[in-house]
Amino acid sequence: MGKIVLKSVRKSFGEVDVIPSINLQIEDGEFVVFVGPSGCGKSTLLRLIAGLEDVTSGHIEIDGTDATDLPPAKRKLAMVFQSYALYPHMSVRKNIMFPLKMAGMEIGEATRRADAAAKVLNLTNYMERKPGQLSGGQRQRVAIGRAIVREPEAFLFDEPLSNLDAALRVNMRQEITELHQQLKTTMIYVTHDQVEAMTMADKIVVLNAGRIEQVGSPMQLYTNPANTFVAGFIGSPKMNLITGPEAAAQGATTIGIRPEHLDVVSSGGWEGIVGLSEHLGSDTFLKVETRTAGTVTVRADGDIRLRHGDAVNLLPQVGKVHKFGPDGKVMA
Ligand SMILES: Nc1ncnc2c1ncn2[C@@H]1O[C@H](COP(=O)(O)OP(=O)(O)O)[C@@H](O)[C@H]1O
Ligand SMILES: [Mg+2]
Repeated sequence: MGKIVLKSVRKSFGEVDVIPSINLQIEDGEFVVFVGPSGCGKSTLLRLIAGLEDVTSGHIEIDGTDATDLPPAKRKLAMVFQSYALYPHMSVRKNIMFPLKMAGMEIGEATRRADAAAKVLNLTNYMERKPGQLSGGQRQRVAIGRAIVREPEAFLFDEPLSNLDAALRVNMRQEITELHQQLKTTMIYVTHDQVEAMTMADKIVVLNAGRIEQVGSPMQLYTNPANTFVAGFIGSPKMNLITGPEAAAQGATTIGIRPEHLDVVSSGGWEGIVGLSEHLGSDTFLKVETRTAGTVTVRADGDIRLRHGDAVNLLPQVGKVHKFGPDGKVMA
């Protein structure tokens, strides 16, 4: 069972506290995404769980037992990296079977597991090929196959799609989600891409400078961000974060309003001038220079007829304004 618990986990490299103290519980079968900007400690946290780095202090429990001092091979976890490091001279089948061979597994069972993994990953027809004869997406699937055959308690993915082009990333994102639905094994997935986090996760852990900013389902984080960091990080285009008189008028240091929650109205509200208007077909994104709320982004109808220089009035939808205090935290 792939339940993983982090208790006051701290990691420092020399003088630098990369992860000051993290408490987190990951349930068996959950798809958890660690998301945050580059350098915030996502890979370090994953490597601590995998046992590739030692914790400075704290404890890691896997499946109810203390795994803090267990070597990686004993943790029953399988890691998939951004660089998939396949053996170029070996066939797909041999690549997938490699970890089982290393573990001394009998060839019949190893072959059975490799073929089963290939079926799940749509690689059955490619088993005799060499990695050089595969596309980037297929190579990434082979790397995932090599993890599947080990039948781990949990899969750990570190930005596995970063090397793929945008269209392929969307495909692989869906394939990994489907894989999780089939296997129902715990997955921890690290990414700096909030779209991947939103689309794949049961539970998102937002990290910033080695600290957890918020844990929740994608929609919880989207609807109720706990602070300005999460408010600005989750969602695209970003939530408008407004300070100054508009915020003060509502008793807040900062107010947040998402682009889709600003209505273009004929009078009243915030007066402004359209700076930029981006027509995407389904939506139009307007950048509006307002008189009292700074520059804001508005998501309007695809067929709205507003252009650079036009005057507009914007009205925040009732109940959609987020208020944040001087500490950046959401106000009750
Ligand atoms: N072996 C190491 N020695 C010293 N500093 C490290 C080491 N590994 C990572 N760091 C530092 O820890 C911080 C977090 O790194 P990392 O976990 O790789 O971030 P992320 O994966 O979120 O981009 C960075 O400031 C990085 O420079
Ligand atoms: Mg990283």
